[in-house]
Amino acid sequence: MVGFENKAVLKLLLVYIFIQFSVTCGNFFPPFNVTYDHRALIIDGKRRMLISGGIHYPRATPQMWPDLIAKSKEGGADAIESYTFWNGHEPVKGQYNFEGRFDLVKFVKLVGDSGLYFLLRIGPYVCAEWNFGGFPVWLRDIPGIEFRTDNEPFKREMQRFVTKIVDLMREEKLFSWQGGPIILLQIENEYGNMEGSYGQKGKEYVKWAANMALGLGAGVPWVMCKQTDAPGDIIDTCNNYYCDGYKPNSPNKPTIWTEDWDGWYTTWGGRLPHRPVEDLAFAVARFFQRGGSLMNYYMYFGGTNFGRTSGGPFYITSYDYDAPIDEYGLRSEPKWGHLKDLHAAIKLCEPALVAADSPQYMKLGPNQEAHVYWENAQSTGLNSSLSESQSTCSAFLANIDEHNTATVTFRGKSYSLPPWSVSILPDCSNLAFNTAKVGAQTAMKVVEYASSPKISAPELVMTKSEASSITESWMSVKEPIGIWSENNFTVQGMLEHLKVTKDESDYLWHMTRIYVSDDDIAFWEENQVSPTLVIDSMRDVLRVFINGKLIGSITGHWVKVMQPIQFQQGYNDLILLSQTVGLQNYGAFLEKDGAGFRGQTKLTGFKNGDIDLSKASWIYQVGLKGEFQKIFTVEENEKAGWTELKLDSTPSTFTWYKAYFDSPDGSEPVALDLGSMGKGQAWVNGHHIGRYWNLTAPKDGCPNSCNYRGAYGSNKCMTNCGKPTQTWYHVPRSWLQESNNLLVIFEETGGDPFEISVKLRESRILCAQVSESHYPPLDQWLNPDVIDGKFSINDIKPQIRLQCEDGHIISSIEFASYGTPHGSCQNFSEGNCHSPNSLSVVSKACEGRNSCSVEVSNSGLGGDPCRGVLKTLAVEARCVSSSTIGVSQF
Ligand code: GAL
Repeated sequence: MVGFENKAVLKLLLVYIFIQFSVTCGNFFPPFNVTYDHRALIIDGKRRMLISGGIHYPRATPQMWPDLIAKSKEGGADAIESYTFWNGHEPVKGQYNFEGRFDLVKFVKLVGDSGLYFLLRIGPYVCAEWNFGGFPVWLRDIPGIEFRTDNEPFKREMQRFVTKIVDLMREEKLFSWQGGPIILLQIENEYGNMEGSYGQKGKEYVKWAANMALGLGAGVPWVMCKQTDAPGDIIDTCNNYYCDGYKPNSPNKPTIWTEDWDGWYTTWGGRLPHRPVEDLAFAVARFFQRGGSLMNYYMYFGGTNFGRTSGGPFYITSYDYDAPIDEYGLRSEPKWGHLKDLHAAIKLCEPALVAADSPQYMKLGPNQEAHVYWENAQSTGLNSSLSESQSTCSAFLANIDEHNTATVTFRGKSYSLPPWSVSILPDCSNLAFNTAKVGAQTAMKVVEYASSPKISAPELVMTKSEASSITESWMSVKEPIGIWSENNFTVQGMLEHLKVTKDESDYLWHMTRIYVSDDDIAFWEENQVSPTLVIDSMRDVLRVFINGKLIGSITGHWVKVMQPIQFQQGYNDLILLSQTVGLQNYGAFLEKDGAGFRGQTKLTGFKNGDIDLSKASWIYQVGLKGEFQKIFTVEENEKAGWTELKLDSTPSTFTWYKAYFDSPDGSEPVALDLGSMGKGQAWVNGHHIGRYWNLTAPKDGCPNSCNYRGAYGSNKCMTNCGKPTQTWYHVPRSWLQESNNLLVIFEETGGDPFEISVKLRESRILCAQVSESHYPPLDQWLNPDVIDGKFSINDIKPQIRLQCEDGHIISSIEFASYGTPHGSCQNFSEGNCHSPNSLSVVSKACEGRNSCSVEVSNSGLGGDPCRGVLKTLAVEARCVSSSTIGVSQF
């Protein structure tokens, strides 16, 4: 017998041991090992089915991270995935940066704190629509370097960075065996797409990269994505819109989907991609149906390419990606909610999924099939299965017909399968979820004028409806055209753009002097021709100035330039401003890509023949004066010699603008509306919010309605045709102070700063539509009474669930009809059958609350409005910030 005192001492001792253990072994989990077999990752001795959400930490602020991670967890993620970003972590060779948005350790720790696992894709080439695919631009300058091939200088640098990251993670005790969240690592990225371009050396490089990674002793498995020849223990994984049926290169490796593309990125002047959630859910369900074990959404939250981090050619500042969490950190509905239901359904199947070594296949029709997972697959024949305990069996029924619903019989029961859908039956009998039946709410977002924090409630309503500009008080200063500092240099010939700028700026000025004789002028007049500037090839933007005047702008990705020029007699200053808009992030031989001009540059049409400017003497100047003087910072901005801008001043090119503004009230995410501007960059309190560019998407190419059925591609359900690709730019709340926020803008082409406004992004309207025959809420499967068999999941009625963003409540129910309502969100109307109680029941349950649920049944809605008819409840609700309500009550 242990006495009371002894027990207390024992307890203390245990607590002490636990604390010691936590300190030395990481604080997140008891240390655990990660291995794998052909079926799944094995975590602490158990196979797991895992859902992961991709979040690139520098595409958000550290202040946003906890909420993003929490929303991922709430949405059903088991893990968070991210690349590392070499050029962010080592901007100057040997000088590391793990601060702020690049605080990788903090990010991984936050993920661990929340109880989620972490998948770290080190690369260090990452693609990712990130500047130069993640490579630091200084890497190009290492003598003899060739990227991503069997090249000593490259391998040395790559190994140094990968080792640095692995060591850092180990020092911080972030690997699973140390009690940390990291369970998986990635080396390289989709090298399989490039390997052929590098011949034998490519093959050698793959082997080297694999051995190098394995040699670092990280103690968790490594993957290589899109790498069919991934050697030895390295798991080759799939990246695609669909990965069901993917087979790794060895029967001993599990099927892993590192990038489930749930949307896509876009370019300046491009349309916005949209992947419907019904198809995305179908792809995910098919993956787990057919033996997949780990799926990562690329992206679960896309975020923002702040500063000059976006890649190229021409990727926009927003990296929203149509992801389940939008650029601003708000849920994108119904994507987030429908996937949450899907994840819950998959989780319910996990015991059977991990127990079976492989599924049992049943053909149910020409385009219909079932995969059945048994906890004891060996001993269970399907014929005798009806007598088996149902808890040991989970099934996925797929209808891959794009057009027709199919009625199939499975284990003696009939199921109606909508086209292009998967039904999930966690107990092989009852429907938990169908990928095509969305019960989750839709949220309509608004980006509206922010109100000033100082005004009172009645005025607040007025200001919200007015087009309110950020301020009436702007200052401006002109950026000099051409050479602005002593720091210029003269060279005979054309230099490659990045060799000169080292990507410290988008801008590179080239200036030369052209002599034009009387004879030339006479020649042009006689022949009615004008001389032309011809450049064989150029990227991304070129602006041509003659004697200080902008005469032409060319935009393109390795395009030919033919710019007619009018010269004066005598000496003319020809200035070429070459600009990058995000460095190339994809392709072989990136180190040779460069930017600016390629081939020959000449002037044609002169009396004595062409002038070869490739051999002329050029003066070079990197960047803008304002940029290098840092006039966008709070500390330095006064240096610039600003003058007040008149309200009626005409738009001016190459101009800096500054203004001060107050932060809008509330907690909603903040956007700057730069729709009135042309092209440039913007800073708030010295933080670079990114490039902006007012280019409009083509008018055509967006379908009137998007049909989710059938294979998805990024061009399929485009939106935003005929509208500017991006007008709103995220300004993270943590970059703002209450008042006097400094906004500095560099404008290249001319815009109207007086029209710039600060807006708030909100989910204002929620809608949902659920029928009586919809499946029960997923969490009810875990209801103790259902588990104990007191009542069957079948007895549980479906529900409508509404949830405003945090800090918001449902202020009113704008529409509610239980019966046969018509239309869709913001367009609902009552049908022939309508329960008069609908509005009062829903209002009572929801108004004044952040979230609510209403049972969709006769009893839940106060009686049956029409017998024998299948009824639906359609609801439209309005969310308001709870603080607004607070204000208006006074
Ligand atoms: C993949 C690549 C990712 C990203 C994605 C497109 O091929 O691995 O890094 O670029 O394409 O968003």
